[in-house]
Amino acid sequence: MTVLLTIAVCLFPEAAALDFVGPMELLSFLTPRVLALKLLPISPPFGFEPAYLSTSKGPLEFYGGLQVLPTKTYDEVTEQFDILLIPGGLGTWPDKCPQTLIDFIRKQAPGAKYILSVCSGSEVLARAGVLDGKRATTNKSAFKRIQEETRDLNITWVPKARWVVDGNVWTSSGVTAGTDMGYAFLDKMVGSQIANGIRGVVEVSIREADDDEFAEFYGLEH
Ligand SMILES: *[C@@H]1O[C@H](CO)[C@@H](O)[C@H](O)[C@H]1NC(C)=O
Ligand SMILES: *[C@@H]1O[C@H](CO)[C@@H](O)[C@H](O)[C@H]1NC(C)=O
Repeated sequence: MTVLLTIAVCLFPEAAALDFVGPMELLSFLTPRVLALKLLPISPPFGFEPAYLSTSKGPLEFYGGLQVLPTKTYDEVTEQFDILLIPGGLGTWPDKCPQTLIDFIRKQAPGAKYILSVCSGSEVLARAGVLDGKRATTNKSAFKRIQEETRDLNITWVPKARWVVDGNVWTSSGVTAGTDMGYAFLDKMVGSQIANGIRGVVEVSIREADDDEFAEFYGLEH
């Protein structure tokens, strides 16, 4: 039997599209719509039902011109989601990050089974109190700023990491690292037979969590 887990893809103005499109491309193989096509060799233990949330109704436009019509706004949510996925982007900066997004995460995090962030999405998690006492990583080009900004919080920021898992919180480094983390998450959730099959279709290379060249790129290794 396949257990469906709901995912809140937490969007906001000036989010980075690939941050959530990358991991969702992998997880989309396990949405009810694709499961109905019966492409997988075995029945997966979990499927995923995504909702795309935003701060307001109407299309959200990304830097490349892509427009996404949100499923609902944060204010309209009444249910608890199983999984939260928070992308990064310029919209996570302190002067831009919407309070409704922070409040939503603060409210949902205690009841969520898994919390995933990509890139500077972990900055939003930090603000919502999700990373206190945890190890995490983030967008390497903003690493020092985010480390400085959150110095009063008890967060161990890991410089050399494509992604970091601490308990049920998964944080990834910049943009494409979210796809690597998405694969690792898929592998954990549905096992390597299914995950590897999907990987083959999407042609994602397997990386280890610490296989990260961008820590050195930004001089973050001491
Ligand atoms: C990463 O951080 C840099 C510097 O703050 C910022 O310019 C860039 O937009 C961020 N990238 C993403 C996708 O969040
Ligand atoms: C910081 O987090 C670590 C790991 O959870 C914990 O052992 C430690 O007590 C925390 N420190 C403070 C000051 O809260």
